[in-house]
Amino acid sequence: MIKLNTDHAFLTEDFNDYQYEVSRIHKMIHEKTGAGNDFLGWVNWAETYDKEEFERMKKVAAKVRNKAEVLLVCGIGGSYLGARAALEAIQGLYSDSKTEVIFIGNTFSSTYHLQVLKHIENKSVVMNVISKSGTTTETAIAFRMFKEFMENKYGKEECRERIIATTDKARGTLKELATIEGYETFVIPDDIGGRYSVITPVGLLPLAIAGVDIDEMMAGYKQAYQDLNSDDILTNQAYRYAIARRMLQNKGYNVEMLVTYEPSLSMTAEWWKQLFGESEGKEGKGILPDSATFSTDLHSLGQFIQEGNKVLYETLLLVEKPMIDGIVPHDEADLDGLNYLEGKSLDWVNKMACQGTLQAHEETGGVPNLMITLPDCSSRTFGYMCYFFFISCAMTCYMLNINPFNQPGVEVYKKNMFHLLGKKGY
Ligand code: PA5
Repeated sequence: MIKLNTDHAFLTEDFNDYQYEVSRIHKMIHEKTGAGNDFLGWVNWAETYDKEEFERMKKVAAKVRNKAEVLLVCGIGGSYLGARAALEAIQGLYSDSKTEVIFIGNTFSSTYHLQVLKHIENKSVVMNVISKSGTTTETAIAFRMFKEFMENKYGKEECRERIIATTDKARGTLKELATIEGYETFVIPDDIGGRYSVITPVGLLPLAIAGVDIDEMMAGYKQAYQDLNSDDILTNQAYRYAIARRMLQNKGYNVEMLVTYEPSLSMTAEWWKQLFGESEGKEGKGILPDSATFSTDLHSLGQFIQEGNKVLYETLLLVEKPMIDGIVPHDEADLDGLNYLEGKSLDWVNKMACQGTLQAHEETGGVPNLMITLPDCSSRTFGYMCYFFFISCAMTCYMLNINPFNQPGVEVYKKNMFHLLGKKGY
């Protein structure tokens, strides 16, 4: 379902030289013997996920869709990016879904909070608060503010029908609060970390409420789990991607720019950046994940990619079949000189831009390009892509001898911030 093309990446090493290492790590991942092995729940999740909870999610989603004009999704990082990435990729940026989804809890910006509060003032609102730890400050502050707004508007009793918590099954502040307030809750599994959690209620519940077919998404995830279950580097596209990344870093490329030609995939790139950045960026190692949306960014970053410092390679995340296509219209006067494109599909123009850019960056610019092609932007494909990136990310990290599932570095800023905010104990 996902095709990887390495023909434009100037790779000089032989893939076969990595077979032994890949087989060793493949075994380590599937037998759960490597570093961070208690966070490998996503590997066989397609088989082990809680089917009863899944059905309950669909029921709750149907109920919420009937009453909510706005769904607030309150979370940050791994408790935010996956749902937003999937939603935009699958439904586009201006979907006709009758429930508007607004993401909160991912910023301290006063302007953002206050504008959202104003925007939803006269709308019917439901909120899904998502936090594994229950103590993340951005999420907690937003939750406190929007909970107060909802309680003033609906009263505590009605809020039990309108606030849903997704959190740890037993521990943490949010779990405790949800139990006291009587909110419906869904579980973030112990063995799946934030950036791998889009295929759990963290991502699936908001997606189901927004009208995404989560059965299809899980079917795609399962298909990838089956397709990418072999350690054969000739066929396993996810492992080939991981190897290609290593080969490129070996050649001195320390930045990977994930390039999309669909604005609706920009958040997928953000989600991918967290996945690879937080997993791999440790102990002075890793490739910096960056992203761009073409052709927009060709009019800004294009110059640097073409002629600037040769620090980066591009990975094109392409889509064969767009969600919708349109035609360049005829214009009698042709003052803009565009009649040569009359009747051509917009997607064809986009694809020609892609071909021309690939040639420019590769041949003239000397920039290596990897290409990952998705057949479409369906929920099935998104689910498939999640597993593809999860397993290649784990492979990449273990190749560098890094634990893919912790993030010790993100605590440093928090300590300083808590000290400045006057939090007890800091
Ligand atoms: O990947 C991670 O661990 C982080 O991005 C967390 O998901 C993020 O900080 C949110 O954490 P929590 O779900 O505990 O609120």
